[in-house]
Amino acid sequence: MEKHLLLGQTLAFDGNAMHDWQGAVRHDSAGGVLVQDGRIVTTGPGAALRSDHPDAAVTDYGDSLITAGFVDAHMHYSQTPMIASWGKQLIDWLNTYTFPQEMRLADADYARQVADTTLDLALAHGTTTVCSFCTIHPGSVDAWFAAAEARGMAVVGGKTCMDRNAPEGLRDTARTAYDDSKALLDRWHGRGRATYAITPRFSPTSTPDQLAALGALWAERPEVLMQTHLSEQLPEIDWVRGLFPQARDYLDTYEAFGLLGARGLYGHAIHLEPRETERLQEVAAAVVHCPTSNTFIGSGLFDMAGLAARGLRIGLATDTGGGSSFSMLRTMAAAYEIGQLRGTALHPAQLLWLATEGSARSLHMGGRIGHLGAGAAADLVVLDLASTPAIAQRAAQAGDIWDAVFPTIMMGDDRAVRDTWVAGRRVLRQGTQGISRTT
Ligand code: GUN
Ligand code: ZN
Repeated sequence: MEKHLLLGQTLAFDGNAMHDWQGAVRHDSAGGVLVQDGRIVTTGPGAALRSDHPDAAVTDYGDSLITAGFVDAHMHYSQTPMIASWGKQLIDWLNTYTFPQEMRLADADYARQVADTTLDLALAHGTTTVCSFCTIHPGSVDAWFAAAEARGMAVVGGKTCMDRNAPEGLRDTARTAYDDSKALLDRWHGRGRATYAITPRFSPTSTPDQLAALGALWAERPEVLMQTHLSEQLPEIDWVRGLFPQARDYLDTYEAFGLLGARGLYGHAIHLEPRETERLQEVAAAVVHCPTSNTFIGSGLFDMAGLAARGLRIGLATDTGGGSSFSMLRTMAAAYEIGQLRGTALHPAQLLWLATEGSARSLHMGGRIGHLGAGAAADLVVLDLASTPAIAQRAAQAGDIWDAVFPTIMMGDDRAVRDTWVAGRRVLRQGTQGISRTT
C-alpha cells in the first residue's frame, strides 16, 4: 500500500499526562505523520519526513492539528435515536426512554441502521474507536461489529445482559446470557479489529445467578473485556443495597461473582466508597468518566483528581444517549467544567490525553490506538483550530499551542473535524453537503 505523509501541527504523548503532562507531551508546530499499510510508520519534523520520503503522497493540513483519533470508552449505540430526552433521572430515564428504545433493536435491520448512523456520527466527530453496549438481542451485536468492520474501525461491544427489573422483551436468563455471550465473543473477538466485552448492564438488572454465569464466562475467556456501570446515582446505589443486602458495597456485587478484574471497565464510578476505590486500584481496573451524561442525568461530579492521583486507569466517554453529545471535544469541555466544580483545572494536554491515550489504555489497547507514534494504527483526527468565527477570533489571540487548542476543546464540535483517518484511510470529506464517507 502506498505511503502517505500528513503534514500539520502534531500532538503526541509518550507518558501519562495525568501525572506529568509537560513530560508526556510532544508538540511539533510543523510536524508530519508517515502512514503505510494502516499504521503510523514514524512521526517527526514535516520537512525532514518529506525529503526522506519523496515517494509518499502528501496531504498538507497547514496549521491544523493532527492527533490520534478520539476513543470513546463507554456508550450505548442503541440509544443514539433518543439522545437528549428531557426531564428524567437515571431509573426513570431508563424506564421511560431507554428500555422502549432498546426494544426496537429486536429488529436486526433497524439495529444495522442505528449502528451505521452511530459510527458515521462518531467519524464525523473525529472518534475512531467506540466501546459500546449493544442490547439484549444478539443481532444487535452482529449489527455493531459488522458496521465497524465495514468502516475498518476498531470497536468494542457486547450483548447487554439483564434478567430482572427490565420489561418483557428485554430480559434474558442466566443461561441464555452465558450461551449468547459466549457464541458472540467466539464469533467476533479478535476478528479483524473487533474486541468483545462481556456486558452485564448493572447489578440491579441481573440476578446473582446471571452475574455468576457471566463471571464464569469471563474466567473461561479472560482475554476479553468486561463492561458495566458502577455507582452512578445515589438512588441506584440504595437500590443495589436493597437487592444485595450481603454485599459490602456496590463493587462487591461484581467482585463476589468474578466480575472484578484488570480488564473490567466500570462506567461512571462517581459515588465510590474508599474500599471500592482501593479494590479498583489493586486489581488495576479502569473507571470511565462520562461527564456530559453525569450532568445531563443529574448523577454527580466524578473525582478525577482523586482517582488519577491514586493511579487508577481512567477512560473518557460520551455515554450517549445518557450523554448529551457525540463529540469528544464537548466531552472534554464537560470534564473540564466538572473539574472546575471540584477545584481542579484539567490542562488541555490532560483532556486530550484522556480522550485518546487514557481511553485506549482503559480498553487495554494502549500503543495500538489512541497513540500518535510508530506502530500504532493510523486512526487520526485533524482538527481545524479556527472552525467557527467565535473560535477563530479567540484562537487568533493565542500565545501558545494550549491557548490555541483550548477554545476548540471548549467550543468546538464536528465543524472542527477537518478529516478523520481510519487505518490509514481518509474516511471523511467535509463539504457544503455535509459529511460523506469515502471508501
Ligand atoms: N445504568 C444502567 N444502564 C444505563 C444506561 O443505559 N445509561 C446510563 N447512563 N446508566 C445506566
Ligand atoms: Zn452507560
